[in-house]
Amino acid sequence: MGTPDGRRLAMKKKILEIGSGCAAGGIACVLGGGASLVYLTDIPDAVSLLEQTITLNRGAYEGNSLRSRALTMGKSIDESGHAWARDAEFDAILFCDIMYSDMMVKLTTETLNRIVPYVEGEKKTEIWICFVDRSCDGDPVPLQALKEAGFDCVRKRNLREYPCMKGILNQDEYYYLEDVDIWLWELQRTGPGRVRDIR
Ligand SMILES: C[S@@+](CC[C@H](N)C(=O)[O-])C[C@H]1O[C@@H](n2cnc3c(N)ncnc32)[C@H](O)[C@@H]1O
Repeated sequence: MGTPDGRRLAMKKKILEIGSGCAAGGIACVLGGGASLVYLTDIPDAVSLLEQTITLNRGAYEGNSLRSRALTMGKSIDESGHAWARDAEFDAILFCDIMYSDMMVKLTTETLNRIVPYVEGEKKTEIWICFVDRSCDGDPVPLQALKEAGFDCVRKRNLREYPCMKGILNQDEYYYLEDVDIWLWELQRTGPGRVRDIR
């Protein structure tokens, strides 16, 4: 995000991160990318950790540009925070390492269908997804599901190429990532899709 490409992507944008966890992705959008506002979200039990992360980083960013909130994928629309996210009209929605199992792929597509409803002729919200491609051939599983859900997927860049990632990936602990590419994909809704709520 601190690269010219990253800044072009995030500068002055209002971004929603889902499943923030340690929140590295969302924080990078503000600190490196110059996003004007990032909502870090996760399941309710994790929100106090998000708050601590925001407090620890205060001083490194301006004003109130990092905020936290509960948003749970897989809950009913009233309990989940999805209606709030849809009405808040974010410029971009960020998922980092969320689509790691079949269930999480289903929850992600369901959540996107609720938060970014298909409106004819409208292509407003960008969706950025970082994931490790664990499939053997053909389109990675998360992308097959997202295409079915009515999203156009464009492969933007291999995060492995960035110097900051080399430092991380060269560590012994990450030996298992040696042959794995880490891609950033950009998605836009192009149709109503065939994926429905799973509950
Ligand atoms: C593999 S971690 C990724 C965390 C972070 N985005 C990162 O890249 O380090 C998965 C995250 O998804 C969150 N998560 C799991 N189930 C979820 C759900 N149903 N709704 C929202 N977040 C969920 C977890 O709490 C966790 O923070």
